[in-house]
Amino acid sequence: MSVKTSSNIVVLLFMFLTVSSSYNHEGNNKHYKPCKRLVLFFHNILYNGNNKANSTAAIVAAPEWGNLTILTSQFHFGDLVVFDDPITLDNNLHSSPVGRARGQYIYDAKNTFSTWLGFSFVLNSTDYHGSINFIGANPYLVNFRYISVVGGTGDFFMHRGIAPLMSDATEGQVYFRLRVDIKFYECW
Ligand SMILES: *[C@@H]1O[C@H](CO)[C@@H](O)[C@H](O)[C@H]1NC(C)=O
Ligand SMILES: *[C@@H]1O[C@H](CO)[C@@H](O)[C@H](O)[C@H]1NC(C)=O
Ligand SMILES: *[C@@H]1O[C@H](CO)[C@@H](O)[C@H](O)[C@H]1NC(C)=O
Repeated sequence: MSVKTSSNIVVLLFMFLTVSSSYNHEGNNKHYKPCKRLVLFFHNILYNGNNKANSTAAIVAAPEWGNLTILTSQFHFGDLVVFDDPITLDNNLHSSPVGRARGQYIYDAKNTFSTWLGFSFVLNSTDYHGSINFIGANPYLVNFRYISVVGGTGDFFMHRGIAPLMSDATEGQVYFRLRVDIKFYECW
């Protein structure tokens, strides 16, 4: 291998490392420290035709070629799911909930598994009162996805930030648990 080729490889490797390390941070805000941080879990149990009582989410719209019991083939494109999920402080579905995650996700990608999330944490416990509102793309095959925390009420009045999401567990199409690491960069 010539010196030129190997130095090209070093340059490429360096570029790759630079790009991948910057992707590990929320944009370029790594110099900022959150003014408040909150790690919570929520649990989504999707209705599948025979778990009505236990389910916390349902497909409410599907494309012409789908139905409301099974997510469509081809990346579930076009399905719209509404949810009312328990929020817990740890990753146990049976821990006593501190609030509800309520909103929707839409499978809006035709070439990969990804959803668009729009939901609120409605918190009413001894620890927290108020709501936190989230919006953003959720390419859930990626380990950490970052969604925007666009506002809040109560204890979270006028708060804004970023929340890395992590799939903490997934069981087929029925259950998933998300770890939400809420980092507020604006607090009041
Ligand atoms: C929904 O679609 C799935 C997959 O195509 C099919 O197996 C199932 O029977 C359908 N259910 C209803 C209620 O139409
Ligand atoms: C919060 O919980 C308290 C006590 O259970 C209840 O009285 C109150 O109505 C709840 N508030 C909301 C907004 O759900
Ligand atoms: C409810 O669903 C969860 C997640 O799939 C499962 O672990 C649990 O056993 C179910 N509970 C009942 C009573 O079916």
